[in-house]
Amino acid sequence: MDGPILEVTQVTKRFGGVTAVNHCSLSLTPGRIYGLIGPNGSGKTTLFNCVTGLAAPDAGLIRFKGERIDHLPPYLIARRGIGRTFQVIRVFPELTALENLLVVSRGDGEAARRRAMELLTFVKLDRLHREYAGNLSYGQQKLLEFVRVLVREPELILLDEPAAGVNRTLLNDLLAAIRDLRAQGRTILIVEHDMKVIMGLSEQIFVLDYGEKIAEGPPEVIQADARVIEAYFGRG
Ligand SMILES: Nc1ncnc2c1ncn2[C@@H]1O[C@H](COP(=O)(O)OP(=O)(O)O)[C@@H](O)[C@H]1O
Ligand SMILES: [Mg+2]
Repeated sequence: MDGPILEVTQVTKRFGGVTAVNHCSLSLTPGRIYGLIGPNGSGKTTLFNCVTGLAAPDAGLIRFKGERIDHLPPYLIARRGIGRTFQVIRVFPELTALENLLVVSRGDGEAARRRAMELLTFVKLDRLHREYAGNLSYGQQKLLEFVRVLVREPELILLDEPAAGVNRTLLNDLLAAIRDLRAQGRTILIVEHDMKVIMGLSEQIFVLDYGEKIAEGPPEVIQADARVIEAYFGRG
């Protein structure tokens, strides 16, 4: 495919008097890892909600593979090939790890089961496939949520703070899995507060502040950007 896989153009989203996302534009080239950072409340999750159809933008356009997706319902956007995780875990605690993947599979039967087991193996949860998700550690539940997004083979994957609260060992499994997805040609947009994680993983970073994109560039440029430093450290 030529051209961007995702194009967000001048998107604005307001909640009453709060402008959560303000004339924000981003363009993602297929097969890369992008970071989306910004202080708490800067609009990162709202932007994800706009892209995935959970929030309707008040202004602006969103295109996926060249086609408008703004104002499509979430299930149609998911079907076109965009998957996401949520900042707050949404696994089903009363289902097993394996069942959590099977409930979002298109088919059932042996092929779906095999694919689900492959995904659990991908994040080293295969030995726990019969365990109730509610009995897994917080980090394991986050990994489970992450692979659940992969069941439908999305081309674009939005990850909302996937590393938050995940211990170092599981974090390394997660980072390896994300890099592997990139090697498969998927595009990843990741929101993460851990600067080491985001700087080490992203090829390009977008920075939001009060809903506006204030900077964009490779990690080394972002780390040295005066407006970014001000947004993070300059407010007492
Ligand atoms: N559903 C909502 N209703 C009202 N205000 C909201 C809603 N969602 C987000 N906001 C507000 O929009 C702003 C951006 O929030 P959010 O997108 O969650 O930021 P981030 O993910 O960067 O922390 C915040 O001021 C937040 O309080
Ligand atoms: Mg958020």
